[in-house]
Amino acid sequence: MKIAVLPGDGIGPEIVAQAMKVLDALRRDGLKIETEQAAIGGAGYDAAGDPLPEATLGLARAADAVLLGAVGGPQYDRLERPLRPERGLLRIRKELNLFANLRPALLYPELAGASTLKPEVVAGLDILIVRELTGDVYFGQPRGIEVRNGERVGFNTMIYTESEIRRVAHVAFGIAMKRGKKLCSVEKANVLECSELWRDVVAEVARDYPEVELSSMYVDNAAMQLVRNPKQFDVIVTGNIFGDILSDEASMLSGSIGMLPSASLDARNKGLYEPIHGSAPDIAGRDLANPLATILSLAMMFKYTFGDEATAERIDNAVKKVIAQGYRTGDIWTEGCKRVSCSQMGDAVVAAM
Ligand code: IPM
Ligand code: MG
Repeated sequence: MKIAVLPGDGIGPEIVAQAMKVLDALRRDGLKIETEQAAIGGAGYDAAGDPLPEATLGLARAADAVLLGAVGGPQYDRLERPLRPERGLLRIRKELNLFANLRPALLYPELAGASTLKPEVVAGLDILIVRELTGDVYFGQPRGIEVRNGERVGFNTMIYTESEIRRVAHVAFGIAMKRGKKLCSVEKANVLECSELWRDVVAEVARDYPEVELSSMYVDNAAMQLVRNPKQFDVIVTGNIFGDILSDEASMLSGSIGMLPSASLDARNKGLYEPIHGSAPDIAGRDLANPLATILSLAMMFKYTFGDEATAERIDNAVKKVIAQGYRTGDIWTEGCKRVSCSQMGDAVVAAM
């Protein structure tokens, strides 16, 4: 198993270091895991003048899977757009054709009090958002800022081909088959042609999965339903921009954005694994960050890329155990729990394994 490790910026190196401890523990138990690190995001810009240096992309291509921390920081905000850290992330997703982004939102019972929603609304929550990741307004052309009739205009293009919609729909239906067999397709078909096509193509793909109950929902309603009654959802499939927004919203159902892992997969299950949160420059370098989303991303790697469910479960169970034992980083801490640092949390997970 060859893993390219890209810590990135801000809290990225701290949280990835905890995931590396987990990998070390697995190696000690006999798993053959090779890791190599490279720079991405602002770190890539600092090292090679490029948020996705050639060497990093080469390493990622040669690897079976990629583990990524986070990118971005205020010191890079004034760079030209193509040099900004976020562009490195978007490019690696596109270059590796990682079109299916899986973002599970799961509530650990002990964290019900950490959610801003009432415990009874979120108790037992287990949903999965499948976000299309290489299309939509994120990549559509034309895009830009230019002067028209004496004033500046900014524009982007929301665009999906039917083949792009079909392939992500197949992934979502496939996952729904292994879960609760309910899929909700989220779009804005009452206003956008792009969404109208999305809804039609998803309905066509549904014919191949007669056991899955398909529903459609407008994104504004979905945003509301997610906080009103999130447990009505099993799997949600949606486009890139809607998925970006809804997955941040869903993260708060589970108590903290520091708990949500993600997998970004290509057609052959090669994947990039990263927490859905950002680089949190305000707490970077202070050993305060929550490493659990990164460690849980590692569990997803074993499940989806390496097909090793047992190891995935071992990591997931270790996380469940440390939560049950009362260990909490600041973001999920509540009265009566043991407040720990990022590295202490990493050690606790390894001990629980
Ligand atoms: C995410 C992030 C990224 C995105 C940013 C950092 C470019 O918000 O992974 O959700 O918008 O996809
Ligand atoms: Mg986001």
